[in-house]
Amino acid sequence: MSAFGKNGEVTLLPKEFSKLSKEQLKTIGPLFNKTKIELEQAINNKREAIRAKSYKKLDLEKLDLEPAEIKNRQGHLHPITQFENQTAEIFKGLGFQQFDAPHIDSDYYNFESLNIPKDHPARDLWDTLYIEDRASAHIDAKEKNYHPGELLLRTHTSNSQVRIMEKYKPPIRMMIIDRCFRYENLDARHEHTFDQFELVYIDKTLSMANLQYLSEYFLKAIFGKDMKARLRPKYYPFTEPSAGIDGLCIFCKGKGCKVCGGMGWLELAGAGMIHPQVLKNGGIDPNIYSGIAWGVGPGRMSMIKFGIEDVRLFNSGDLKFLERF
Ligand code: PHE
Repeated sequence: MSAFGKNGEVTLLPKEFSKLSKEQLKTIGPLFNKTKIELEQAINNKREAIRAKSYKKLDLEKLDLEPAEIKNRQGHLHPITQFENQTAEIFKGLGFQQFDAPHIDSDYYNFESLNIPKDHPARDLWDTLYIEDRASAHIDAKEKNYHPGELLLRTHTSNSQVRIMEKYKPPIRMMIIDRCFRYENLDARHEHTFDQFELVYIDKTLSMANLQYLSEYFLKAIFGKDMKARLRPKYYPFTEPSAGIDGLCIFCKGKGCKVCGGMGWLELAGAGMIHPQVLKNGGIDPNIYSGIAWGVGPGRMSMIKFGIEDVRLFNSGDLKFLERF
């Protein structure tokens, strides 16, 4: 039974007052009123106290309406792009400009202009993807030296060499960093699509000494001051003499290890003095000018620089791999 409310004890009590005498009512009446007010007051106080306490609790119970932090995964340039940008900067500093040549090109620029005629055994050095359907190739049929049915995916950036000579007069300092394609058996060191960095440098007194100097300058800029470069005799139909550029093995510093097969050196590029016939094909007089050219694999260089064991990782789109850089 409650004290207040419609049927509360205190509410109903005055009904009994009719039974009292006037004298009794004089004392009981005011006493009743006073007690009632006191009780109401006490109940109110208690109610307020409880309310205040629960508000305090509510105050502490903070509801976080801030938007949850969305983790921003920051993208970055692909490791090979990073390497290529660094390379481009190094050679820009030496006055080289970037040049573009087509991915889909004619047999002439990829092979014939480079002293590699049809059926020449040297063609075996480049496993080539030929294109049969002329309609699918975006090349101007009126272009000089274009012969229908002789389109291919360029196997190297050397397809730029004679194009550069046709477009510019010496002295020439050009570089090409771009994709190439080969019909390869894929393994940890071979991809069908890969990049090359080609240098074409034509001037009046260039010699193998300049090639040696530039090679070492480049390798030191990429791998550090302790790096050394050496030139080894090699064969390319479009350079004479030709050389393989080796870099001191960065893993054993020349002592010989598993990575370099005990040699102490790693092959990093193909290079040489541009063949007089190739200069002639580009309209440049080989009696006045000589040229240096090299082709480097940014993929191979990056594998060595970053210690990557399989070239196929680069184009795999595997985020776990890419996030390492
Ligand atoms: N184009 C050659 C290759 O792909 C490399 C090279 C470039 C060699 C320039 C000599 C001069 O193997």
